[in-house]
Amino acid sequence: MCGIVGYLGNLNPKDVIISGLKKLEYRGYDSAGLAILHNGETKLIRALGKLKSLEEKITSEQFNGHIGIGHTRWATHGVPSERNAHPHKVRGISLVHNGIIENYLDIKEELVKQGAKINSDTDSELVAHLIANEVEITKDLKKAVENILDKLKGAFSIVVMWEKNPNELIAFKDGPPLVVGLGKSENFVASDVQALISYTNQFIYLNDREVVQLSQEKVRLFSSQGVAIERKPIVLNWSPELVEKQGFSHFMLKEIYEQPRAVAMAMEPHILNHRVVLKNVGFHEKDLHHLDQIDPLKDWETTQKEFSKIERIFIIACGTSFYAGQIGKYLIENLSQIPVETDIASEFRYRQPIIPKNSLVLTISQSGETADTLAAIRLAKEKGALTLSLCNVKNSSIDREAHGHLYMNAGPEIGVASTKAFTTTLVVLNLLAITFGKVKKLISEEQELTLVQELLSIPSKMEVVLSYDKYFQTAAENLKKFKGFLFMGRGVSYPIAMEGALKLKELAYLHAEGYAAGEMKHGPLALIDERMAIVMIVPHDANFEKTVSNLEEAKARGGQIITLGSGENERLKSISLTYLPVPKAEWNLNPILYVVPMQLMAFHLACILGYDVDQPRNLAKSVTVE
Ligand code: AGP
Repeated sequence: MCGIVGYLGNLNPKDVIISGLKKLEYRGYDSAGLAILHNGETKLIRALGKLKSLEEKITSEQFNGHIGIGHTRWATHGVPSERNAHPHKVRGISLVHNGIIENYLDIKEELVKQGAKINSDTDSELVAHLIANEVEITKDLKKAVENILDKLKGAFSIVVMWEKNPNELIAFKDGPPLVVGLGKSENFVASDVQALISYTNQFIYLNDREVVQLSQEKVRLFSSQGVAIERKPIVLNWSPELVEKQGFSHFMLKEIYEQPRAVAMAMEPHILNHRVVLKNVGFHEKDLHHLDQIDPLKDWETTQKEFSKIERIFIIACGTSFYAGQIGKYLIENLSQIPVETDIASEFRYRQPIIPKNSLVLTISQSGETADTLAAIRLAKEKGALTLSLCNVKNSSIDREAHGHLYMNAGPEIGVASTKAFTTTLVVLNLLAITFGKVKKLISEEQELTLVQELLSIPSKMEVVLSYDKYFQTAAENLKKFKGFLFMGRGVSYPIAMEGALKLKELAYLHAEGYAAGEMKHGPLALIDERMAIVMIVPHDANFEKTVSNLEEAKARGGQIITLGSGENERLKSISLTYLPVPKAEWNLNPILYVVPMQLMAFHLACILGYDVDQPRNLAKSVTVE
């Protein structure tokens, strides 16, 4: 999705904007641009394609001034092109925009009637026209922005600059995220803290329908009705290195290799003396800034009290987070006997879900900004459910909306394809399932101890999987000859099959499907021939024999089998074209280990095929529009 950076200060705005936009590249984009104001004139430069094209265009340019805005665009209205790229400039107003203006056709018709000259196909330019018209009357940029807000329908964030006031940026958020960065005699606004982390560690997150007025010296926050709002900045302790590649060829590879540490960090806050004690879930704690300061034991009591009332759980998410949620269903139902429904957020929000009393709605979102998941949590609250969010980004929109809060603790995930956020989510879901099992008195202290010990052994087992990377690379080499891929598994391995197929689709642009192995006879068997690779996930769990039978069936029809199994297994080896061993673990933890070869095979295959691994075509990291 689009990335926004705005700057006021004594550094060269061009440098701050370009460096910020580079940090936002992970969001996905197809064109970029910047506008810098100097001596009452705006220098506007835009380019189709990656930031490199924009940088090439501006190398010969001289930039002065202290204020500017920049943007990476992910096309929604109008093809990716230079004329559709942002900023849009209309009579001294420059604007960048993220999101969608739903009633843009009506606005366009009205503007054309009034004689406006529209230069792009975007909904964004129309907003610049509205503000330009209004500022001619109000002579005040903030008022002009506030006055037009009621005319716009949709989910959108904007940052605006005006030639007549070279010390002011106005930003408004209703949907896509915006965060203000505070500095000394300089201030920033951006779509994500990652863009600003090398300049400041003090941030103010904007809530929906808030307006912010930035000058070099001051930041003032208002409701959309113009009422002043006081909000203390939060201090983030992320080091800038966390958002660098640190010697890895790609962010994705770095993030895959970070997983042993990331999963250890995910469990660390919630394990006390080999017991699961969920830390500072903060049910009903309104101010997220206080989460770190609440009394952990009191909070744990509240969490258990809330959980003891729960009779049904809904897990809602999109994409990879949804597959993690499906594994969560197996874990929670098995360990606590509480029925769990899983739903894709875009389906849940429009299917008029029936949410009985005493339900918990758990949303999973790495970014915490996914539009459909955000809408789902709002709907769940409207229907009276208790909500719990599991996010990687603290203070993200979904995190702020939820009654209770859990975190993946994975550190920034830059690669568009999710890896460490998935495995850390699985760790937290295990902790949650154990907690429900304890609350429902279905897990004894002894069982809890064993479950925790197994969990604690996972980081080192992941290290072992990573040490087999050269085998996954060779396997990837062999995969390039196939026309299609079927990933299959049973039980908790079924969502892993879907995640494996998704990774291959999004990175290597190959057709891959994830299936429950037991479904093979009901259709997919017809697809199998020697050009179809079958990736079978066969851990040594309760489904082992049944999955091996499926494997034999596929082999008998000429399928080329790549098998992942627990440790050395001669039987699996003899049936498979390629056999990849994974360390033995308990059934509930196998998904955390088995997904790693999937991630690495997709990564290597995409590299072999020459694709952009960190930013696959057409995809965005943070899907802030529905
Ligand atoms: C994962 O590789 C994908 N890029 C995508 O499916 C992602 O998981 C999905 O968009 C959900 O994102 P979220 O976790 O930030 O809500």
